Amino acid sequence: MRKNLGTEEAIKRWDRFADTYSALHTEQGDIHKKVLLNPALLSLMGTVKNKNVLDAGCGEGYLSRMLAKSEAHVTAVDYSPRMIEIAKERTPNDLPIHYREGNCENLHFLEDNSFDLIVSNMVIQDLADYEKAFQDMYRLLADGGCFIFSILHPCFVTPDSGWEKTNDGKKLHWNVDQYFYEDAYEQRLGDQEKMLFFHRTLTSYINTIIKTGFHLEGIIEPKPSKEMLKLYPSFEEDLRCPDFIVFKLRKPLRIQDQ
Ligand SMILES: C[S@@+](CC[C@H](N)C(=O)[O-])C[C@H]1O[C@@H](n2cnc3c(N)ncnc32)[C@H](O)[C@@H]1O
Repeated sequence: MRKNLGTEEAIKRWDRFADTYSALHTEQGDIHKKVLLNPALLSLMGTVKNKNVLDAGCGEGYLSRMLAKSEAHVTAVDYSPRMIEIAKERTPNDLPIHYREGNCENLHFLEDNSFDLIVSNMVIQDLADYEKAFQDMYRLLADGGCFIFSILHPCFVTPDSGWEKTNDGKKLHWNVDQYFYEDAYEQRLGDQEKMLFFHRTLTSYINTIIKTGFHLEGIIEPKPSKEMLKLYPSFEEDLRCPDFIVFKLRKPLRIQDQ
């Protein structure tokens, strides 16, 4: 299972997959974002008007555009040159978003304490060194600022997980294995590309959050709403077991600011 593969390889694969991935995205993202992740992220963010926001790992940029339309001042970073190219193509001239190519593990070209909010939607599981990324997010946030990120749920989406099915394809239950494995693993997305993800336990995530200095302010394990279920009944299975988890962290105010 151990792949000895790192961020550079993960990003090469994202770059090759960028066009196929982006083709599945509308201005609300893909179907999982529309039904599950956007409602969770937006409810945790609250109002973003006039806030300095960093979209860390922006992909083709749908979330950056949503935030800019709500009058946030958005900087958007992705390590894949092709993703940044597509994001720029999809962004109308009157929507001012600063797109930058960069690795979320080391965003040295961005200033300390310069963001009120950092969002990172489905990116942290792509990083070999997520601890370094958390430290950089902490550095970039103003005191009192928030870091909100979503990932594949580490308790259920493990290197060896999936539905147990009957011969005629009925889903019996979701199997989980290799939960304590912490390293790279490959998972096929679409027909062509095997993407590289990094699994860590929930304990590792929470201990890293605490060690970095963040306060954990909220968690959502997204479920489809009744309205979304009417539109997309296949999401009924997400009421059995969550695919994602979303964290809201806060950089504490310094004592003299309180
Ligand atoms: C699952 S996509 C999510 C994209 C976007 N956040 C969204 O919700 O549509 C993961 C993105 O993270 C980017 N990425 C992966 N590793 C990265 C890194 N180390 N630094 C910056 N971006 C990275 C990939 O290029 C890809 O665009």
